[in-house]
Amino acid sequence: MPKIIQNYEGCIGCGSCAAVCPDFWDMDYDKVKAILKGGKKNEQTKEYELDVNTQEDIKCNQEAVDVCPVTVIKIIK
Ligand code: F3S
Repeated sequence: MPKIIQNYEGCIGCGSCAAVCPDFWDMDYDKVKAILKGGKKNEQTKEYELDVNTQEDIKCNQEAVDVCPVTVIKIIK
């Protein structure tokens, strides 16, 4: 199953992911970080991960990947 991965520590809180894909991304303005909705922290990598299964969900997150200025969002297929 495809997986969305966010390097949370590397996020600079620009907000672009939440602007293009609000179903999956929200902003924590206090911490100046994006939140991957429903994502779970992988304690080994310290990254947040979320399984997705529809093409629509992948497309939305691909847009987030494309707009992130510090490339901290990945999709593993
Ligand atoms: Fe952070 Fe990149 Fe979103 S910097 S706020 S994950 S576009």
